[in-house]
Amino acid sequence: ETVAVSGARMIDVISGSVVANPVVVITDGRITAAGTSASVTVPAGAKRIDLAGMTLLPGLIDMHVHLTGDPTLGGYAELEVTDSYAMAVGVASAARTLNAGFTTVRNVGSGNFDDVGLKQAIEHRIIPGPRIIPATYAIGATGGHCDNTELPPSIKVLGYSGVADGADAIRAKVRELRKYGAEVIKFCGTGGVLSKTDSVGGQQYTLAEMQALVGEAHMLGMKVAMHAHGTAGINDGLRAGVDTIEHASLADAESFKLAKASGAWFSMDIYNDDYILSEGAKNGIFPESLAKEKEVGLKQRQTFRAANTAGVKMVFGTDGGVYPNGDNAKQFAKMVEWGMTPMQAIQAATVNAGQALARTGDVGAIAVGRYGDIIAVAGDPLADVSVLTNVAVVIKGGEVVKDAR
Ligand code: ARG
Repeated sequence: ETVAVSGARMIDVISGSVVANPVVVITDGRITAAGTSASVTVPAGAKRIDLAGMTLLPGLIDMHVHLTGDPTLGGYAELEVTDSYAMAVGVASAARTLNAGFTTVRNVGSGNFDDVGLKQAIEHRIIPGPRIIPATYAIGATGGHCDNTELPPSIKVLGYSGVADGADAIRAKVRELRKYGAEVIKFCGTGGVLSKTDSVGGQQYTLAEMQALVGEAHMLGMKVAMHAHGTAGINDGLRAGVDTIEHASLADAESFKLAKASGAWFSMDIYNDDYILSEGAKNGIFPESLAKEKEVGLKQRQTFRAANTAGVKMVFGTDGGVYPNGDNAKQFAKMVEWGMTPMQAIQAATVNAGQALARTGDVGAIAVGRYGDIIAVAGDPLADVSVLTNVAVVIKGGEVVKDAR
């Protein structure tokens, strides 16, 4: 099946330029031609989708989501629902995320291998949703950000977890997660905001533990995403060779140098602070978490500006699930407010993300060979990036999955 999509203009994220009067030809889900209407020949019999007056962009990519996360269940409210509640949230989030124009997401942490089930159900066309790169469980140290630290020792958390201590146990955990569907490894290398009992900046794995984790994941062909707010942890993670630093709140000049040398990407969720500070208390977030947010929120935005100025490579990652999934595009305006050009912010969510995923043959640009994942907005996102919160048309693999023109 062949479709030809046209519009008023198209953002070419690879060259960082705008194409007027574009046409994109998609055959059996993949792009076979893309360019100006004068340069592209549309095969006879192709189905025409004319998005007159609109701007075409590649389907967006969010490198950091938790589709199964419900932001309204903060603190102990999380314990009021049963385990499978998370999967129901995931089904709803997948649809909302796709409708928001995000055709690919990296799910960096969920229980019960829910993200693998979501991915399979989307691929089997049971439910609508984006392409998913699942991490399954986030790996972390006992008592750390990725452990359950809310309960007293008399209440043991039974069942599967991502907790692993020491190089050998960490290697075994990486192998096990891959066996059950992980395509990327996420681990917690420092403390976090939404966890009880840890300090947000404290390191939680030694350099040797991180080297074991990264070595094993890379041997198995998987990239590594490291949750890290604190400076020392970020820098050891970069020395160990992690591929993306998530949050990166307290990264310093040394971090920037290490990231540029290793080629690591920063994935900084700088919209989150607004949501957590305005809704967190109402949602039941622990008071200590709100205090930690106040400690790092503004610093993270300042670090974002400094890292971008220093030339650190950036991808778009929002931590959806901490705020409501589907609102992902609200972060674009924050990225521009804190120093990026609109084109840079769009590239972070497209061509850069495709590179960081090592999926440049599939996603991240409107280019021959890649999936026919295209979105359309009214207006010009290069003049006002916030128009991306209002995606009118979503095409995934050449199929129109949303048309709200
Ligand atoms: N999941 C992250 C954590 O708990 C959320 C951090 C949100 N705050 C921020 N300023 N980005 O650490």
